[in-house]
Amino acid sequence: MSPYASDASDRVAPAAPPPAWWREAVVYQVYPRSFADGNGDGMGDLPGIRSRLPYLRDLGVDALWLNPFYASPQADAGYDVADPRAVEPALGTLADAEELIRDAHELGIRVIVDLVPNHSSDRHEWFRRAREEGPGSPYRDRYHFHPGKGENGELPPNDWTSVFGGPAWTRTKNPDGTPGDWYLHLFAPEQPDFDWDQPAVRDDFHSILRFWLDRGVDGFRVDVAQGLVKAEGLPDIGRTDQRRMLGTEASPMWDQDGVHEIYRSWRRVLDSYPGERIAVGEVWAPTEERTALYVRPDELHQAFNFALMGASWDAEEIRRVVDTSLEAVRKVRASATWVLSNHDHCRHATRFAGPQPEGQCPRAGDRALGLRRARAATLLMLALPGSAYLYQGEELGLPEVTDLPDDVRQDPAFARSGKTDGFRDGCRVPIPWTLAGPSYGFGTGGSWLPQPEAWGTLSVEAQTGDPGSTLELYRAALALRRWHPGLGAGDTVEWDDAPHGVLAFRRPGFVCTANTADGVLIIPSVGRPLLSSSPIEAVEGPPGEAFTLPGHTTVWWTA
Ligand code: NOJ
Repeated sequence: MSPYASDASDRVAPAAPPPAWWREAVVYQVYPRSFADGNGDGMGDLPGIRSRLPYLRDLGVDALWLNPFYASPQADAGYDVADPRAVEPALGTLADAEELIRDAHELGIRVIVDLVPNHSSDRHEWFRRAREEGPGSPYRDRYHFHPGKGENGELPPNDWTSVFGGPAWTRTKNPDGTPGDWYLHLFAPEQPDFDWDQPAVRDDFHSILRFWLDRGVDGFRVDVAQGLVKAEGLPDIGRTDQRRMLGTEASPMWDQDGVHEIYRSWRRVLDSYPGERIAVGEVWAPTEERTALYVRPDELHQAFNFALMGASWDAEEIRRVVDTSLEAVRKVRASATWVLSNHDHCRHATRFAGPQPEGQCPRAGDRALGLRRARAATLLMLALPGSAYLYQGEELGLPEVTDLPDDVRQDPAFARSGKTDGFRDGCRVPIPWTLAGPSYGFGTGGSWLPQPEAWGTLSVEAQTGDPGSTLELYRAALALRRWHPGLGAGDTVEWDDAPHGVLAFRRPGFVCTANTADGVLIIPSVGRPLLSSSPIEAVEGPPGEAFTLPGHTTVWWTA
């Protein structure tokens, strides 16, 4: 146990597991390609994850969310699914997936899998046939095939652009080799969008849900949940900055009302299974109110709330985010979710290291400061009501790898944007388990993305037992969260007055204090310190009356 942490005598017996486990769960995101490589081919896989389940149990997480491990040509790291009922051979077999789910359950860990309903791979059987069979094929209706504009159909059907850069349309050839219709892809050309007006698409996704529910999964993370349904007639947008509209403004591509009926039907499927199976949506809607519609009682259970991930390390901004986020979910009686890092965004240890140029990680910055703030931000997040989603490696304080050579980058947006975007590989570098070894214990072979030289010093091996390490901080925090009744529960925080730059809020039996500023403050004790992200000291005087609160530090107290 860390010196910044209290000992086990602070704990009280955990209450029985809450009836709606997901409302306050700590969910650990496993990016299968980069977690652990069981067969030494340089690519993480399901047997690798299975072998590391005891680590996750000891870390203290309630559930795993696995990014897609389905059969896929990997044009977008598995978000281009060719067969959602099969496992990508490089990642394992269906039997491996079943064993992983079973073993996780034996260790008391729930398993959430990814579901990718907005699009398939261009190698999906339906899309292959749609192209091969040409106009008239029933498979074409399952996607958005349309004739082009212009005299010879040489212009795309509308002005939509892809999230990954370039037009959202690709022209096909007819079976006789002549130029044919265009198809819609809101992401890469290898990811054609489904047409959700088609019953065949709707039926197939019910069957995919059942396929994995029958294999025991506890839920689904729904990719691009605000996509699926497009505005009638696919109208032009008339703007070139369409990417900016994602999650900020109404758009005919996103967040159409028709999508809710789909989630209501999925909820009926989920509810027909025993054991509280859930769905959590990746929802980029323009307002908190629009996002809240996805988590009405008969739709998805949760939606990722990315507001904290977008906030600066600033007390006022964080307080605003916490208040608006809690208010939005309270209205629909849903639970809050919190995220600081994931596989699409700059890791928070680096994000907080310096100013963030729009959409990119700071390349220069103070790494020690970034980590210090990241640790403080994590303790703050874990004290909030609702569930917390952790991204693999953040418990090691891993930084973003910002200097990957261009030729190893695989993010499809990198090439499509002329190397100005698509830097997501930097948070996907395989994680270090050991101080030394061919890929720092990731596997016995190499690693599909190069790991930095100093990676071993950040490994699980290097940090285990080091009381000042980030790993031990996460372990202590998750143990306390699990054992302390009230942490994570409910939907409100009670703010205390605090000096400028400081946040102080109460939870039942508990106070969290975070100093987002540089200077050290002397603060009166609000209780007994339980855990802090950097060392704090009692100030001379009557014992326990006042403490130092250093800059960029969060402290948990019993109230
Ligand atoms: C969101 C996923 O998180 C991201 O990794 C992926 O590229 C897009 N959806 C497209 O599926």
